[in-house]
Amino acid sequence: MTNTEELVKQLINKHGIHRNSLLPVMQGVVKEESYLSDEAMIEIARGLDLSAADVYGTASFYSFLYTEYKGKNIIRICKTITCKMKGKHKIVEAIEDHLKIKKGETTRNGKFTIMEANCLGWCHKGPVMLVNDDVYPEVEAEKVVEILESYC
Ligand code: FES
Repeated sequence: MTNTEELVKQLINKHGIHRNSLLPVMQGVVKEESYLSDEAMIEIARGLDLSAADVYGTASFYSFLYTEYKGKNIIRICKTITCKMKGKHKIVEAIEDHLKIKKGETTRNGKFTIMEANCLGWCHKGPVMLVNDDVYPEVEAEKVVEILESYC
């Protein structure tokens, strides 16, 4: 049995074999493996007696359930209107310059992925950056390198 099969089995045992377990099981896999591989989705479908299309459809609906490999640290920049007006592009540029990758990409060492996100709920303090669960409101481009270094 692979590690993924074992993990899915444990999560299904914990949450039970019913449709309501789909989300917590998927979240559990993302927490441990950072994304939902095809193998994981097939195992979840098998274990919960759902179709693979059903599992994949749910996974692609939620933006926090990744179906592609992501870095250890996920950086999200709010792309919605207020943060846009408050200069989010400068933050994105500073991150891209520092990490030498573009939005949607992951660094070669697997440490960071840059993503854009819709409103993060901090519009009054834009521009906003999120690194994993840590919020950086009113983030300044000059501070970006220092912040990212603290995750290395
Ligand atoms: S518009 Fe950026 S947090 Fe709401």
